[in-house]
Amino acid sequence: MYLSFGGVHAVRDVSLTVATGEILAIIGQNGAGKSTFLNMCTGYLRPERGAIRIAGRSIVGLKPRAIARLGVARAFQHPQIFPQRRVVDHLRFASVAGRPGFWNPFQPLDSPRSARNVAELLAFFGLDELAEQTVRGIPEGARKLLDVAMALALVPKLILLDEPTSGVSSAEKVGLMTRLVAALRAREVSAVFVEHDMDVVARFADRVAVWVDGELFRVGAPEAVLADPEVKERVL
Ligand SMILES: Nc1ncnc2c1ncn2[C@@H]1O[C@H](COP(=O)(O)OP(=O)(O)O)[C@@H](O)[C@H]1O
Ligand SMILES: [Mg+2]
Repeated sequence: MYLSFGGVHAVRDVSLTVATGEILAIIGQNGAGKSTFLNMCTGYLRPERGAIRIAGRSIVGLKPRAIARLGVARAFQHPQIFPQRRVVDHLRFASVAGRPGFWNPFQPLDSPRSARNVAELLAFFGLDELAEQTVRGIPEGARKLLDVAMALALVPKLILLDEPTSGVSSAEKVGLMTRLVAALRAREVSAVFVEHDMDVVARFADRVAVWVDGELFRVGAPEAVLADPEVKERVL
């Protein structure tokens, strides 16, 4: 796929397939085109050329909401949340938003199935104790967890995470990723995450893709890619 912004090649000649249940990390310097790539995969930006398919189906030109309905979820570098609402409300909303009938005012927000899903996610991400608190008052690490839990609430096929551990203390990073990866593995959800911490990459990714100047420079097993002298020189 290819996309430029006024002469800047943000993403070019990237060709990448993610397997079911696979966890792929994207690394690369600032401005390499990582976020642009994720934004194209979720319909926030449209590639000028190329194809993007989810489970064989082309998604180029679809609106973000339509892509989400096909099973592509995303979490943001800066979580999209409502500070004055409670943690549990975010998950309730996320677990029904995008479902057919969501915009029907007669559809109950709290079906038993969605309530179970919310309870499971709260437990899985260790958010039970914060469930009744407003998001304004919870730590940054918990906010990140909530954002990821919200993305998982609809049981997507693929989740895209832009720097899930940014702004999280090194002590909290491993806990966040351990919970996230366990949740992904339990549900066989594929994931692509942008990450700057190479310890996190080495520990949690099945494969690593290296972005350099909008291009896919390397992709492979973390041990091989992170030890590659050219990768070290250009990225690390
Ligand atoms: N909306 C935009 N308008 C113009 N240029 C952009 C826009 N978004 C990103 N870019 C440019 O595209 C390139 C890739 O950016 P980005 O995908 O954000 O990189 P990364 O996430 O790897 O740091 C950069 O040169 C950036 O300045
Ligand atoms: Mg970015």
